[in-house]
Amino acid sequence: MNFSIIQKKPKDSQLLIIGDVKELRNIDLLEPNEKTYVKKAAEAGDTLITINKLKKYLFIYIIEDKGNNTDTSEAIRKAGARVQAVANQYKLEDLCITNYSANNKAAYILAEGIGLANYQFLKYKGDADKLTYSLKAIQFTADSIDRNQIAQLRIINEAVSHSRNLVNEPLSYLTAVQLAEEIAKIGKQAGFSVKTLNKKQIEKEGMGGLLAVNRGSMQPPTFNIMEYKPKGAINEQPIVLVGKGVVYDTGGLSLKPTAASMDRMKSDMSGSAVVIGSMYAVAKMKLPLHIVALVPASDNRPGQDAYVPGDVITMYSGTTVEVLNTDAEGRLLLADALHYAKRYNPELVCDFATLTGAAAIAVGPYGIVCMGTAEDDTKQQLRSGGDRQYERLVEYPLWDEYGAQLKSDIADMKNIGAREGGAISAGKFLQHFTDYPWMHFDIAGVSFSTAKKDYIPSGGTAYGVRMLLDFLQQRSQQNTQEA
Ligand code: BES
Ligand code: MN
Ligand code: ZN
Repeated sequence: MNFSIIQKKPKDSQLLIIGDVKELRNIDLLEPNEKTYVKKAAEAGDTLITINKLKKYLFIYIIEDKGNNTDTSEAIRKAGARVQAVANQYKLEDLCITNYSANNKAAYILAEGIGLANYQFLKYKGDADKLTYSLKAIQFTADSIDRNQIAQLRIINEAVSHSRNLVNEPLSYLTAVQLAEEIAKIGKQAGFSVKTLNKKQIEKEGMGGLLAVNRGSMQPPTFNIMEYKPKGAINEQPIVLVGKGVVYDTGGLSLKPTAASMDRMKSDMSGSAVVIGSMYAVAKMKLPLHIVALVPASDNRPGQDAYVPGDVITMYSGTTVEVLNTDAEGRLLLADALHYAKRYNPELVCDFATLTGAAAIAVGPYGIVCMGTAEDDTKQQLRSGGDRQYERLVEYPLWDEYGAQLKSDIADMKNIGAREGGAISAGKFLQHFTDYPWMHFDIAGVSFSTAKKDYIPSGGTAYGVRMLLDFLQQRSQQNTQEA
């Protein structure tokens, strides 16, 4: 999707945003009878009203006031999805937005919703030409948005698309090695550095968690290190992002059933997709932050040499782990990455992972289960970013009792706790490998959708990217003010 500001009068179809029908007064584009029509439709409850101007369409969107910014913004985003559907139904290629309302973010948010809804993954479709949406460009009149907002809109839209593409790619394309190549491509495009450890190097490092998960696979693992360190970085200690890169999760020998379970496990690298997409945007927006991102990648398979329930493995940190379920693989490779993160003396580490079915059961597709040891003001910034972007957070407690469940008779720890509270015992497992301020985001419920809903397409959602970017933007501004 192309986003731009137009200087001349718009000649294509237009979308006018108003906050209230009273604002129709200020719009000279509409004939008096058209205004009457809009008023009537509005009174009947319509919030998106179409006027056919023969060669073009005029859409009038009336902002639905939901009483608070979070919900009103989300209503605008969802209206964007409605606009996207109608625009494509009428085969429009361009749409010019003018904001007549008092809400000065409305044009941005509406366009964001249009852009997010206009995403398609057609790589494997023979008739892609026919299926491709007509809508290609969103324009704005000059007073509806500013240049920075346009740049941000474009970059975040691209970041989300990258992230969704990665999730949508099946294992038949996206092996751990291919994921490394995609990361390298995106790094080049955006301007961050990428280093990938191959299997030999991973063995030399002794990343026992990642290697154990990989043992049943025909494909080698990769450990990917992205770094963005701009000259004017305002944080002395980097922020480290960690993303679960399980390119396919069969469960290993603790095999998953197919239906509504293994069949969607190409998405088990969604955590990595969140951090890769975010790195793309951070570098493109040139945020003044030093950020590192780590992605341990492998598929989890029951091959001949697969690790078995009962095995004891030695992690990268030296901790020994009794593996009682090979389907609790994410925590094993994440633990190695969390241990690796210590070398950066990070100010904060955030990991993103489709870690537990328990998180999905707890909140469904409506939010992220998070937990961690970061300071309260960090948590508050994350929460406000999540609310603003409608990628909301629910914080779970890291109580000791959940950690006690991980005691093993023969090793330092075991890799599973009780079924009850399963998202938290997984978090407690990860916590063991941290010694810095840390947040864990379990995105199992939100990363993959089975049907298009509003601006969320079927398949990969990239849920978490906009929350994380909002947070990082807040950090770059906050620290600038302090400096
Ligand atoms: N990748 C799964 C978690 C998952 C489940 C993601 C559903 C998305 C949707 C993870 O590796 C897993 O299998 N977790 C197990 C852990 C259990 C064996 C302790 C789970 O949640 O069942
Ligand atoms: Mn698993
Ligand atoms: Zn998994």
